[in-house]
Amino acid sequence: MTSGPSSTRPQSVASRFAAHVPVPDSRRPVGAREAEEWAQDVRRDRTTLLRGAGVISGLYGLGASVQAAYIYATYLSDWADVPVVARLTGNALAVVMLVVALAVLRVHRAPTLTAVGVRCLVASVAAALIRVASQTVTGVYEHWDAATLEAELLSGFSAALIACAVGVRAMVLVREVRVGARAAASQAVDVQHALHALQQEEVRVRRAVAEGLHSSLQQRLVVIVAGLDAFLRETPGRPITASELTSLQELRDDIDVVREQDVREMSRLLYPDQLEIGMTPAVRQLLRRVPTSIAVRLVVGPAMRELDDPTSEWLSEPERLLAVRVVEEGLSNALRHGNPTSLEVGLERDGDMVVVRVEDDGAGFDPMLVHASGTARLGERLALVGGRLDLTARAGGGARLEARFPVAALRAGRGPSQG
Ligand SMILES: Nc1ncnc2c1ncn2[C@@H]1O[C@H](COP(=O)(O)OP(=O)(O)OP(=O)(O)O)[C@@H](O)[C@H]1O
Ligand SMILES: [Mg+2]
Repeated sequence: MTSGPSSTRPQSVASRFAAHVPVPDSRRPVGAREAEEWAQDVRRDRTTLLRGAGVISGLYGLGASVQAAYIYATYLSDWADVPVVARLTGNALAVVMLVVALAVLRVHRAPTLTAVGVRCLVASVAAALIRVASQTVTGVYEHWDAATLEAELLSGFSAALIACAVGVRAMVLVREVRVGARAAASQAVDVQHALHALQQEEVRVRRAVAEGLHSSLQQRLVVIVAGLDAFLRETPGRPITASELTSLQELRDDIDVVREQDVREMSRLLYPDQLEIGMTPAVRQLLRRVPTSIAVRLVVGPAMRELDDPTSEWLSEPERLLAVRVVEEGLSNALRHGNPTSLEVGLERDGDMVVVRVEDDGAGFDPMLVHASGTARLGERLALVGGRLDLTARAGGGARLEARFPVAALRAGRGPSQG
């Protein structure tokens, strides 16, 4: 249910690498499906790295062998005596050593860029050494002098290191593509959830209105119509009696109840009273409906008062509606489940967020036994706009429902600054 602003600061190479490092051991996923996916990622990383480094170092080795055997040998008589197979063997062994060392050192699992660098250096040194050893055994050089040895070690080492760098880069690119594809897929799922949650909410309100119309309102109207019918049947052309007048008075009162309770109730379900003039007035209207035996307190922070200014458009109507829905859920929960003697509703601003809080001193609940229903639906709605909802049992008894969600105008840099 939580989401926050994403950082847009430019990332360093190291942190970009870290962001795409495969899940380190300490964060290994627990579920079977995730574990299988994770293992597959690791295998793909290893294959990309080894293939990249192997292909580049192989091409380099092949090129260097051919160049030495067929080009340099025409200018250097000593080189003409060395068979091309001997040169190829040295370079091929170096390639194999590089690939094996990268695999054994598990460069694809290195958690940081530094660790990758160190392991690549070690693998490149091993490749350069095995190349020189092979050149000695196969007689590419009969006698080593310091300068030649240094040159061969250095060229083998540099070629291996470049091949490692290409392999690592290829691995990171593949990871980036993978992470991007997964993010796109999970975004698509989020959108589906969001649409589903909105549809559910609409169905819920429609059902509540339909039930209200069908059960309560319709039945009351049936009773009123039956009463009026009886009255019309029994009093054709004669003056009405005192008792009939009383009945008429009762029917009139019933109509008033229908108007005041049922119709108003359903209209509130669709659109809370006074919402058009602000969140605070709408919440105040809601609190008027709490039984007078319960002490009610509304706390509106000064920054929120400024933000909820009826002459401004800083809080959009959907944002006000969301806040009022939170208070509605908190109040109805407190009255239905808590049996409290007092209630407190808080409307505050915290940076670019609205914080709505409903607290009661009622029975509270055992968090282990709770099955979230209305709060789960509301939590989904809040999550859609980047907010969250928390239902907690208060230490001294009672419950606390707190929602926080971002205000689009404040996020866009409009609205009053918070002092
Ligand atoms: N203020 C409260 N006091 C005591 N218990 C509470 C309070 N608020 C919530 N609860 C407990 O948490 C549960 C979950 O609340 P939630 O609002 O999600 O569902 P609900 O009220 O049971 O159903 P719905 O909201 O769909 O009508 C409740 O059933 C109740 O046990
Ligand atoms: Mg509820």
